[in-house]
This record gives sequence, structure tokens and C-alpha cells, in this order.
Amino acid sequence: MKSVFKRRDFLAAGAALAGSLLLPSAHAAIRPRVRLGMIGTGMRGQVLLQELLRRDDVDVVALCDIEPVMLGKALKQVEKFGKARPQTYGEDRDPQAYKRMLDAGKLDGVIIATPWEWHAPMAIAAMQARVPVGCEVVAGITLQDHWDVLNTQLNTGTPYMLLENVCYRRDVMAVLQMVRAGVFGELVHLQGGYQHDLRAVKFNSGDPARPYGGGVEFGSKGWSEARWRTEHSVQRNGELYPSHGIGPCAMYSNINRGNRFTRINTFASKARGLHDYIVKQGGPQHPNARVQFKLGDVVTTTLACENGETIILQHDTSLPRPYSLGFRVQGTDGLWMDVNHSIHIEGKSKPHQWDDFQQWQDRYEHPLWKKYARTAEGAGHGGMDFFVIHAFVEALKAEAPMPIDIYDAVTWSAITPLSEQSIAQNFQTLDFPDFTAGQWKSRKPLFAFDDRY
Ligand SMILES: NC(=O)c1ccc[n+]([C@@H]2O[C@H](COP(=O)([O-])OP(=O)(O)OC[C@H]3O[C@@H](n4cnc5c(N)ncnc54)[C@H](O)[C@@H]3O)[C@@H](O)[C@H]2O)c1
Repeated sequence: MKSVFKRRDFLAAGAALAGSLLLPSAHAAIRPRVRLGMIGTGMRGQVLLQELLRRDDVDVVALCDIEPVMLGKALKQVEKFGKARPQTYGEDRDPQAYKRMLDAGKLDGVIIATPWEWHAPMAIAAMQARVPVGCEVVAGITLQDHWDVLNTQLNTGTPYMLLENVCYRRDVMAVLQMVRAGVFGELVHLQGGYQHDLRAVKFNSGDPARPYGGGVEFGSKGWSEARWRTEHSVQRNGELYPSHGIGPCAMYSNINRGNRFTRINTFASKARGLHDYIVKQGGPQHPNARVQFKLGDVVTTTLACENGETIILQHDTSLPRPYSLGFRVQGTDGLWMDVNHSIHIEGKSKPHQWDDFQQWQDRYEHPLWKKYARTAEGAGHGGMDFFVIHAFVEALKAEAPMPIDIYDAVTWSAITPLSEQSIAQNFQTLDFPDFTAGQWKSRKPLFAFDDRY
């Protein structure tokens, strides 16, 4: 373990990484395998665990969850793969059990897949225990959380990666290749978001056998995400889940690496969808029909960038709609929009007409997808969950910089508290903090330059 942190001193220093030409491809695997733990073995944890268990370079040595049913399901997965039983923590329902797991000192890394409010304290505790972190989206709740996570990473030098899987989506990565090849010309405007009807995620009957839909309970009577995520829609109004949309847009526009967000504002529509769902599914007399939801049904955030681009994010989780992340990448030579799988490039496409994106995707397939498409088959979210775990594990093995690093994590995730502040201040436009303290000017892009990770 020691060597990780010696090599990682340059990460802590931050400035040394800035300007470094060392891309992940320059790093060979130093350790053939890693011992990982996981905190939170719920619905998401189990998907990520599957990816860890499929690998022959990972030993899952510890699992922590305070819900025995979820812990039991995870142990069953391990058994199914014929792997050694990991040490378990949290059977006593002690919410601090994860600290014992971190302090046991046997981990080369930990995956955090717990409710949002736990991400910052768990990541901070792990980094303080010198256990590298792969953290599910988001990085924290308040703006101060984001500074605390960042400062802990800088002070300890412990690696941290935000496990933002959409950055690894097949079309998203092909577009990254196209952006880098200059196909769109100079980037001018980008869009993305989280447009996903979550009503059957936010409400269920509390039955572990049916985590999605089937009832209108939440909080202590709900199960899985309904237990904790719905409360955020009661208490908060903002862009609550920014990273699936902003991650790819930030990679395309080199945020924190030659570019940065300068200003942000957010508008929120009225909140009707969740109440409407409860009334339709549970009847007007159901006690939850009296709950007042604060989260606007459609929340629209605009970001301005130092290099002159604008980015729009939309959070839309409470109304009936098919899933779409709503990507749009637009430059001086044309644009891609994922909702209609279409692209238009001036001089290549017929004037004023869309081309089907597939032929472009095939032509600009990212080397990672060329190499691992077969391996990723069957992995969660159309394969991208393989890639995000692969990146974390390979970076750990190579003791290389995390491709989605601490600056990415806090910059993308801090959109949430800033959007809440903007809405609360009558949709005011706010300055966006520079978490890199000026290093954005000289830092170089790291993400996915070759076929390793
Ligand atoms: N990247 C993606 O595509 C994606 C998809 C789904 C969920 N997520 C994220 O993954 C995280 C988990 O979501 P989920 O769907 O698995 O929710 P979940 O409710 O199914 O699982 C969370 C688990 O954390 C456990 N937990 C809560 N407090 C704990 C503590 N103090 N110590 C140990 N365990 C604790 C719960 O018992 C539960 O089993 C969230 O941050 C969510 O946003 C990401």
C-alpha cells in the first residue's frame, strides 16, 4: 500500500499533475490484483459488485451494509461466482460500521454506493484511512461538503474517482473522439441532463421483492431508493443529479483542463408530478397525498464557460416520459443530438438534414469500446458499468491518476448546491467556484485517451 501514496504525492501536490504529459497509457500495471471493499450493497452496489466479481484481478474482501437483506443478496452474488466470502460489516445496523471496515487496513480501494448524504463522510473517512475511493455520484450535499472532500483528497493524497458511468457510454465516447478530431469545429454550446421518469423508483410498497413501483410509500415505509432519495424531492429544489449530463459535456469542453465554469443559474418549474402520481396510484386519501414536494418537475440550469461555451442541464424525474439524457454537442461545423440519434455536419451532411448517428459512431468508435465491447456485454447500463469499474481498477493497479478525478467530482457535483442557491435567490446567476485554484489553466485532459482506461 505504501507505494501507492509515495507515487501519489504528486496528486496531492496537484500542481505537479498540471501540465504533466503522463497519460494513463504511460502507466503499466504495478500490482496484478487489488483487494476491494464496498460500502452500500443495495441495488446499485449489487450491479457494481457483479462487475467486480466478473474480474480476475479483483478480490472483494469486505462488504458493508446496514440492511441485512441487501447484504445477504450481495453475499449470494459472491457465492454464485464461487469466490471467497468477504468480511462483512453492518449486520448490527450500526451506520458507522463502515469505519471499522476502513480501519481494518486490508483494502486497496473501496467503492461507495450508499445514499447521497453518506458519500462525503464515507469518502472523507476512507481517504483519511488511506483507502482509495471510487464514489458513486454525487460527491456531497452542501457546497462545504465539496470543499471538505476536495481538501481531504489534497491533504491525504489518497486517490478518488467519481464513478460517473455515462462518460463511458458508447455513443458518448464516440462523440468524444469526434470532438477531439475537430469534427464539430469549435464547440459553442452543449446540453445534457437527467431526464428519467423516477416515479416508480421514488415510490414503492416497501416490499424488498419489488423495489420499483407497486405502491406510493417512501421514507421508512419504502424500499431501496424510495427510503432515502424521495426525501430529497420533499426537502430540496435544484439540479439534484447533475453528473450524468455534465460529465460528458465537461469532458468535451475540457472543464478544469483549459476551461472552467464561470457562472451558473437555475430555474425550476412548479412541482406537480410526484403529487399527481400519488393521487393516481394511491388515491387522494393516501397520507402521502398531503406531502408537499419542493423539487420542481423540470429544473433547468445554465452554465457559462471561460472559453465562451454555454451548457444547459435539465433535471426531469417526476413526470411521465421515456428516458433520455438529452445530449447536444454543437460547434461551428455542426451538431449531434442523442434524442433522435442524429448528427449534422456542414459539408458532409445534406444541407439542413440530419444523418443517422450510427455510421458516425462506427467510424469514430472509441478504442476502449473497440477493445472491450464483447467483455462489456451484459454489464449494467448497456455495458458502460463495465468501463467505469474497469477504469477504477486499472488506475489503482497502475497507480495512475484517476481518469475522473477529484476536481471533476467536486466541480460536477457542486452544481447541485449552487443550483439550489440560485433557485432560492429567485433564479439568481452566481459565480462558479474554481476548485482548482487556477490550475485549470495548465492541467491537461486525462480521460480515456487510449484503449486501457
Ligand atoms: N451511476 C448510476 O448509474 C447509478 C444508478 C443507480 C444508483 N446510483 C447511485 O448509487 C447510490 C446507491 O443507490 P442504490 O440505488 O443502490 O440505493 P439503495 O437504497 O438500493 O442502496 C443503498 C444501500 O446503502 C445502504 N446504507 C445506507 N446507509 C448506510 C451506512 N451508513 N452504512 C452502510 N450501508 C448503508 C442501504 O442499506 C442500502 O442497501 C446512490 O448514490 C445512487 O445515486 C448510481
